[in-house]
Amino acid sequence: MSDGKLGVGVIGTHAWANKAHLPGYVAHDGVDLVAVCDVDEGRAKEAAAKFGARKVYTSAEEMIADPEVQMVDVCTPTHTHLPLSLAAIAAGKHVLSEKPLHTEAGPAFDAAAKADAKGVRTKLGFTFRYSPAIRQLKEWIADGKLGEIYHINGFEQNQQWLDPDVPLRQVSPDADRSKLIPASIVGYGSHLIDLMRWLGGEVTGVASTMRNFVPERVVRGEEGRQKIMIDDGTVGLVEYESGAIGTLQTSYVTVGNYPGVEIRVYGSRGAAIARLISEFDVAETLMYATPQKFEFVPFELTEAALPPGATLATPWPELYYRNLVRHFVDEIMEGRPQECTFFDGAKSQEIVDAMILAHAERRWVVPGA
Ligand SMILES: NC(=O)c1ccc[n+]([C@@H]2O[C@H](COP(=O)([O-])OP(=O)(O)OC[C@H]3O[C@@H](n4cnc5c(N)ncnc54)[C@H](O)[C@@H]3O)[C@@H](O)[C@H]2O)c1
Repeated sequence: MSDGKLGVGVIGTHAWANKAHLPGYVAHDGVDLVAVCDVDEGRAKEAAAKFGARKVYTSAEEMIADPEVQMVDVCTPTHTHLPLSLAAIAAGKHVLSEKPLHTEAGPAFDAAAKADAKGVRTKLGFTFRYSPAIRQLKEWIADGKLGEIYHINGFEQNQQWLDPDVPLRQVSPDADRSKLIPASIVGYGSHLIDLMRWLGGEVTGVASTMRNFVPERVVRGEEGRQKIMIDDGTVGLVEYESGAIGTLQTSYVTVGNYPGVEIRVYGSRGAAIARLISEFDVAETLMYATPQKFEFVPFELTEAALPPGATLATPWPELYYRNLVRHFVDEIMEGRPQECTFFDGAKSQEIVDAMILAHAERRWVVPGA
């Protein structure tokens, strides 16, 4: 680490990197933003100028090999996450990857094991774990304030593809279009399931049902509306090892704003509702009730719960990613326990796969069995 700072290199410098990842590095004074890399040199140069990166690469391999880069951030399209992350691990670099690491759990578990063997740290971009409201909820569960947990209800839903003329970008080119294509449960479900597992513990069984509500829509890169049966909405049932039970809903066609995550937790001593829905310039709210005071009241998230310099009016991608980046950098610099790793990504993927199988075979499925 140069001057006590962590040398970071970011691969992929387009939409999400500009909105979420790069502002996070700029906000952390323990980071030396060594380099940015994009196959589109113009984008990389623009990002370097805007966020103050010292070097520009168009080859990820070259950037990963740069000795000044100690941590690699992968913010590229999905199919590149695994190979780029594996290259970083092989070079002995810590790595943050956007989710999903891979669309199957097996290769994600392998990557987690390779990182452990190499002694490098990983983090998966599960944005919503870094919501101040969700972290408060996690604390209340851990310290017993909510008592024994009975029910967890999770939603990730918004109106992103309610309008069939908004181009869908979630269809892999080799998807079998004669069948329902898992989509909301993959794109939104991986985040939501990670949250529900983080809060509620290991999942022992799932059941689900998936629907295509909008039969024709525009698909990115194709002309006009296409007949395509994508999963616009999924509803699932979840059984936890602890004995708690849960429900989840992922949907692309539900009226409402981004990100549209809501978690309700009901325990023997209290209940809490976190709403991560950007409304009237407030990113999120947290409500709390007890058996004695059972009318839900807002819980005020103080400045201490927010990443330095951010407020609840900070746009949610930046608010949550500043927090995520801060946690990962501090975990590395201060040797703190790992959290939200590639292993967690693989576990979430395993539950997504179980939900898809449960729908296809109309039965309960044990994740990973
Ligand atoms: N965690 C979240 O909440 C969240 C939200 C939005 C997007 N994402 C994810 O973030 C990732 C990036 O999203 P985006 O919208 O910015 O995508 P994008 O396609 O707009 O940008 C990706 C960039 O990566 C570059 N690139 C592709 N392959 C490369 C390679 N091998 N080496 C170097 N550069 C390469 C492209 O040129 C492009 O500039 C995606 O995986 C997306 O799913 C996550």
